[in-house]
Amino acid sequence: MTGYDPSPEGAEMQFAKEMSYIDYLALDPILGAQHRRSEAHDEMLFIIQHQTSELWMRLALHELAIAREELKAGAFSATFKKLARVARIFEQLNSAWDVLRTMTPSEYTAFRDDLGKSSGFQSHQYRLIEFIFGNRNPAMMQVHAHRPELYQMLVQEMQRKSMYHVALDQLSKALGVTFDPNIYRLDQPHQADQAVVDAWTEVYSHPETHWSLYELAEKLVDIEDYFRRWRFNHVTTVERIIGFKRGTGGTSGVKYLRKMLEVEHARSAMKDHLSPLPMKDRFHLPEGMIYLDGNSLGPLPKGTQERIASMVSDEWGDHLITGWNRDGWMAQPARVGDQIGRLIGEIDIDF
Ligand code: HEM
Repeated sequence: MTGYDPSPEGAEMQFAKEMSYIDYLALDPILGAQHRRSEAHDEMLFIIQHQTSELWMRLALHELAIAREELKAGAFSATFKKLARVARIFEQLNSAWDVLRTMTPSEYTAFRDDLGKSSGFQSHQYRLIEFIFGNRNPAMMQVHAHRPELYQMLVQEMQRKSMYHVALDQLSKALGVTFDPNIYRLDQPHQADQAVVDAWTEVYSHPETHWSLYELAEKLVDIEDYFRRWRFNHVTTVERIIGFKRGTGGTSGVKYLRKMLEVEHARSAMKDHLSPLPMKDRFHLPEGMIYLDGNSLGPLPKGTQERIASMVSDEWGDHLITGWNRDGWMAQPARVGDQIGRLIGEIDIDF
């Protein structure tokens, strides 16, 4: 019995003289580029995961280069379409971590040494994406010094206005405001600027008047959101697979990747401006900081500063032993206990 033959219906079956699927997609070099350096079965997953990520990044760069030109020209709708696609690419990259997470620490250890000092840290495409958006740190370019054409690619990008700058140009044009020339520095990481926060605050306060800018901001925030999730997935996967060991690229590994997760909070600052916490004035917040900054104690309440100063100088310094009763130190544990009790619901504990 023979199988179904689609050729009588016109399916092309002879490609000796025609361009085939394999030719068009250059599948021979692509599918022949998975060179394992060990006998470890899982190295194939590791290689393909990186290669596919690089392919998606290639597409993201292709879209972003055009999107920036379109935005420069004020073609908002065309820009939005490209940015929406870039956001989807990141979504795709985010889902891919689920495949990599099937690899256990011991499976990774079986080929880790074969990677030498190579690491995603040296991904020029990743750095280019960061540079295009405006996250520019020239120090990151050093790893490409041995590949002048890649190094030059980053140098050239550094000489162009980033997506952030181009968005600011549109913002300044639409609102008739001018920004400090310092924020247009091309070769530096982005710095927060109050005038920029104020301008976006105006856009978010009256979206119907500034709809295109409002939509642009939301599209960029969408991408930032996906990008941040990618970084988060990366660091959690890395922690799961290598724990707190150093990276093959020589950084502190998880600690370094966590630092990279600390992103700008221009949008948070703007939201803060739009709906500030009612008791904001009661906290000591250094210039440019928002409530989320600080440590596990949160921002410092101004009253705490005064209270501690008086406790040290008056109660400890002047009152000395009398302070135990006079300043209520003796009764303090019971008072704190009562306050906690109100929060957690009172329970009787017998000692
Ligand atoms: C087992 C899987 C992975 C491990 C253990 C791992 C580990 C690391 C570590 C430790 C770093 C910090 C640099 C270093 O010292 O090496 C890093 C950076 C990086 N990795 Fe991965 N990684 C993994 C998978 C991936 C994948 C699939 C990609 C996709 C392209 C990727 C892309 C990157 C990028 C772009 C950086 C630089 C991040 C930055 O500088 O902000 N990694 N990786």
